[in-house]
Amino acid sequence: MARQVRLSCCLLLAAMFIVAAAVAAETPEAEVKSSYIVHVAHGHAPRAPRRPSLLATGAYTAFLRDQLPEHLLHPEPSVHYAYAHAATGFAARLTRSQAAHLASLPSVLAVIPDGEKPLHTTRSQKFLGLSSLIGLLPASEGAPDVVIGVIDSGIYPKDRASFAVDPSQRPPPSLFRGGCVSTATFNASAYCNNKLVGAKFFYKGYEAKIGRPMDETEKSPLDTNGHGSHTASIAAGSAVAGASFFDYAKGRAIGTAPGAHIAAYKACWTLSCTESDVLAAFEEAIADGVHVLSISFGGGDGPVAPEFHNDTVALASFRALRHGIIVSAAAGNGGPGEYTVKNIAPWVITVGASTMNRQFPATVTLGNGMSSSVLRSMQVAGKIVLCDSSKWREDAQSEAVRAAGGAGAILTSAIDFGEQTVSTAHILPATTVTFKDHVQIRMYIVKSKGSATATIVFNGTTFSKTPSWPRMASFSARGPNVHAPEILKPDVTAPGVDILAAWTSERSPTGLDTDTRRTQFNIISGTSMACPHVTGIVAMLRQVRPIWKPAAIKSALMTTAYNVDINGDTIKDMATGQASTPLVRGAGHVDPAGALDPGLVYDATEHDYISFLCALGYTAKQIALFTNDGSVTDCSTQTSSVGDLNYPAFSAVFRSANDRITQRRVLTNVGTLVSTYTANVTNPPGVRVTVNPPTLHFMRGRSRRKFEVTFELLESAETVTTKYSFGSLVWSDGTFKVTSPIAITWPTRQVAAM
Ligand SMILES: *[C@@H]1O[C@H](CO)[C@@H](O)[C@H](O)[C@H]1NC(C)=O
Ligand SMILES: *[C@@H]1O[C@H](CO)[C@@H](O)[C@H](O)[C@H]1NC(C)=O
Ligand SMILES: *[C@@H]1O[C@H](CO)[C@@H](O)[C@H](O)[C@H]1NC(C)=O
Ligand SMILES: *[C@@H]1O[C@H](CO)[C@@H](O)[C@H](O)[C@H]1NC(C)=O
Repeated sequence: MARQVRLSCCLLLAAMFIVAAAVAAETPEAEVKSSYIVHVAHGHAPRAPRRPSLLATGAYTAFLRDQLPEHLLHPEPSVHYAYAHAATGFAARLTRSQAAHLASLPSVLAVIPDGEKPLHTTRSQKFLGLSSLIGLLPASEGAPDVVIGVIDSGIYPKDRASFAVDPSQRPPPSLFRGGCVSTATFNASAYCNNKLVGAKFFYKGYEAKIGRPMDETEKSPLDTNGHGSHTASIAAGSAVAGASFFDYAKGRAIGTAPGAHIAAYKACWTLSCTESDVLAAFEEAIADGVHVLSISFGGGDGPVAPEFHNDTVALASFRALRHGIIVSAAAGNGGPGEYTVKNIAPWVITVGASTMNRQFPATVTLGNGMSSSVLRSMQVAGKIVLCDSSKWREDAQSEAVRAAGGAGAILTSAIDFGEQTVSTAHILPATTVTFKDHVQIRMYIVKSKGSATATIVFNGTTFSKTPSWPRMASFSARGPNVHAPEILKPDVTAPGVDILAAWTSERSPTGLDTDTRRTQFNIISGTSMACPHVTGIVAMLRQVRPIWKPAAIKSALMTTAYNVDINGDTIKDMATGQASTPLVRGAGHVDPAGALDPGLVYDATEHDYISFLCALGYTAKQIALFTNDGSVTDCSTQTSSVGDLNYPAFSAVFRSANDRITQRRVLTNVGTLVSTYTANVTNPPGVRVTVNPPTLHFMRGRSRRKFEVTFELLESAETVTTKYSFGSLVWSDGTFKVTSPIAITWPTRQVAAM
């Protein structure tokens, strides 16, 4: 059946490509302009006004006129953004030869084609242990002095209690300079308040991409997708009593940091988020003075993350960091394969997705059931249809079944999703089974020769100890880090499966045009949903610990994360049903109460990150893309290696069995003034880990102590049959436990020999 569905999908796609090709074909090949981001060297950029403005785009138009030779001035390039905070430079529509000429100039650091990035509750806050009585929530009062910037598909505040203002909501901090933009579809004076303090939109890159002017009514911060409202309400939505999605997940919906303010920056439109728009959103958010940024998309459009100097989110996040803004980003939904994790810069918090103790099970009982193998209405009318596996568009399959007159659908999870079946909204009674169960059902259908029957019982919302929780979602993207394997990614995991949060009325909960239902809330899954939980926790930590730098906040989250499930076993991976590894769950599941008091932190400054870029072998020009303050980085004076970055996790990559890898770290005391910490290593199998010195004495607050960790493979290395092995290092003073995962990558030859 699904084959039929997929076919119609393919037809649709083909039709779209033909339209795109027809548009492009109107202009001769050499003249075609497309959108580029041009990074300009310090000293060549026009003096930056505080706000991106007409003045600045005008200055860059003049820059282009000066820099391009006469024969390249036509067709006239058009500048659509000027950047001064999130980057130094501009975005413009250029021909390929104009772009190539600019890239060759000493005044230009890089010219990057404007890429696209895909957009990747009631219960989760309680699950995180956020109690109104003790811990981070009361300590931070929900972060009333913090503004969270959400770069996403906009915000739908009409008639949405999640974005309504509660009488206890304080005004935003006086230094916040943002605001809401009014448009025909967005009445800022009606929708914005002390909860929703910003709503802006960035569309010029998208417009360049689609090759036609956008409709005036489309140009608005209004969320017509649902994704942006969902993520924003997870981060900081107001409390809503009696929230549910068709009675599922019924309860009180509340954001993770309920006191914090939301500033929505819409850079994602119907089809994707365009990088020049994302960069413009960063630019505006930095100028507005947000404190935390939530990024539930990104990492380029390819299967692996782009290099840091070619990654808009990495570049803009580095600049944001300089303004003290901490960026929390989704790891991506490309799991369960290796090297799928996105947003992997060490200065970003990369969040994976895991389950909670809540499920929406349905039970399929086979009797003498029926399923048809061809999706013609005559054959499926009144029947339950078994569909083949599909990773994300199950709702479209069930829609096809409904359109053909089917009574219900049994959908199938992808084979590599293992035991995971993601809950999806459907337009008719439908449920998803694992690939394994699918095979069983199919066999039954074949054997019954047309007399098969089935019943689907929907069990509603259940809370149970089995299967254990949390469990890593199969789709949650995994390490190793493709460009810096010594930096363990993802960093942490948070709830991202079956999350109830606010939704738009501009689109149905299934996203299907034929679905006419409109709902206040929707239940969806993804690392996109895990990320804003961490964003909210970061907002509260920022409120309580205003002097901590972003790296210290990230360290606190990582070293206090937990790694065991409700049964006391290592958190399981739904893709395999076995224990997950730090390449899947990072340092573990976030624990807000623990993060408030980590004892010690692995802090890092901008200079540490520059040393890291040097260690990666970046050129001075590539590094200038990050710094761009006129300073010239001389990497030849840097002696540290990639693994020396003061990261709260350890990853040692062996090239040969005789390697002896040493990584250096510095711990800063943020706990008891006078304390003595002792190292306790759980050795990865086959590896000797030595910590020197094994004891650290701290004599006062904020004092710092250095140590080194050395990794050596034991002679018994031949017995190791995996590519990786894992352990941990815990520093403990009897009160605080500062835990870091250790990941070892074995030399290739060693593994191959097994
Ligand atoms: C916008 O909202 C305000 C406040 O609710 C209202 O007074 C005004 O008439 C609205 N404007 C439009 C154009 O609907
Ligand atoms: C930058 O990334 C894009 C894909 O996101 C890729 O096509 C391009 O080749 C990369 N450029 C460089 C210089 O790495
Ligand atoms: C769902 O309900 C059915 C019928 O009451 C029951 O047999 C089944 O065990 C339930 N399943 C779950 C997972 O709760
Ligand atoms: C070190 O950690 C192990 C494993 O968690 C534990 O059993 C042991 O008691 C710890 N040792 C010390 C000295 O704390």
